[in-house]
Amino acid sequence: MDMSSAQAQRDLRKALGAFPTGVTVITTQDAQTQGLVGLTVNSFSSVSLDPPLVLWSISNRSANISHFSTGSEHAIHVLSSDQEALALQFATPKADKFAGVTHKLTDDFGAPRIEGCAARFDCVTETVIPAGDHQIILARVLRYETGPETPLLFARGAFAAAVPAPLVPAKVCATT
Ligand SMILES: Cc1cc2nc3c(=O)[nH]c(=O)nc-3n(C[C@H](O)[C@H](O)[C@H](O)COP(=O)(O)O)c2cc1C
Repeated sequence: MDMSSAQAQRDLRKALGAFPTGVTVITTQDAQTQGLVGLTVNSFSSVSLDPPLVLWSISNRSANISHFSTGSEHAIHVLSSDQEALALQFATPKADKFAGVTHKLTDDFGAPRIEGCAARFDCVTETVIPAGDHQIILARVLRYETGPETPLLFARGAFAAAVPAPLVPAKVCATT
């Protein structure tokens, strides 16, 4: 199967979009200029509880890839269902992605924290793994906070809210 053409890549992206994910905004701070950095990411995943590890991937084309190298502190915000505008704001390259966004900076951590999220994980990059046109960021969780907010979802190119659905009871297969 030729997966290299632009059409093949669009088709693959569409098929992968059948897998629903949450949506995060990942923030950090430029070590030299103290400038604020952030981008929308849905490749976030849990990896290990002991030690506490998570991963996410960043495109080689991201202007901010150098800010997430080994040892860099970053905050992973799991967005709530009323934060769709925030997801769009941080998915658009521009000079000040934090315009109008309520956030806090503290001396003990190198990343701005955004309010009102379903969860936040303060992390430090353990390893960066090259993976095709992305880099996988494997990060250790230093601390976290979580709240009762309904999480924002992303599936088939659209946002949705995670609400409990009445499931169709599974049919019990008769065994002979
Ligand atoms: C729902 C959604 C999920 C995204 N997930 C990722 C991701 O996992 N990794 C990534 O590199 N970009 C992802 N993006 C695209 C980036 O948010 C976008 O390219 C952003 O402009 C990158 O910012 P930067 O170039 O300023 O770093 C996603 C965008 C959206 C809307």
